[in-house]
Amino acid sequence: MVNLVSASILSSDLLNLESEIRKLESSGVDWIHFDVMDGVFVPNISYGIPVLAQISKKTDMFLDVHLMITDPLKYIGDFDKAGADMITFHIESASDTTETIRAIQQTECNVGIAAKPDTPAEAVFPYIDEHLTMVLVMTVEPGFGGQSFMDMSEKIRKIRRYADEHGFHDLLIQVDGGIDDKTAPIVKKAGAEVLVSGSYLFKVDNMADAVGKLKG
Ligand code: DX5
Ligand code: ZN
Repeated sequence: MVNLVSASILSSDLLNLESEIRKLESSGVDWIHFDVMDGVFVPNISYGIPVLAQISKKTDMFLDVHLMITDPLKYIGDFDKAGADMITFHIESASDTTETIRAIQQTECNVGIAAKPDTPAEAVFPYIDEHLTMVLVMTVEPGFGGQSFMDMSEKIRKIRRYADEHGFHDLLIQVDGGIDDKTAPIVKKAGAEVLVSGSYLFKVDNMADAVGKLKG
């Protein structure tokens, strides 16, 4: 089974991002999770295309881009050019979901779709048939790091079951929000394989040890 950790750099020391990235590389982190917020889709603003382009020049790590923006379709080409390896956008955004999936498929990037806590599993089912790489099940309301975990085990199980029953055995399920050594076993038991973690990883003294705990 796939067992990956994607570090959300939203909680990192942003003025020393390069050394933070070196720390991720030497701590066994698999992916860099890059949260893009536009202040409209979510009540917060983070960073965007020029910052991603700089990161991509400095590391070979897999860049897992999470778009929390109103009109993702408009920016797929820009994030691709800036070095994204995976582009995940929200099913609740204003862009047409199928069109956005197709636009990502026209690039070299992997496609992910994300669902907020109130969005039911069934809402993502029709798009799993579009050969997605990943479904992101939010375990907090998107917008901020450091929030408390919401248990989405039932949703994860439903998505896993649907994917397996329809032959999409390779579909990855990612979780994002409030993931630490206590909550990781809960989401993994339900079938999540890619764990995003921000505040937990960046606050511990020994990141490699924390990554080991998340991977179990
Ligand atoms: C929240 C972001 C997350 C956030 C996770 O909207 O999508 O990626 O950085 O942070 P923690 O792990 O602190 O909940
Ligand atoms: Zn995220």
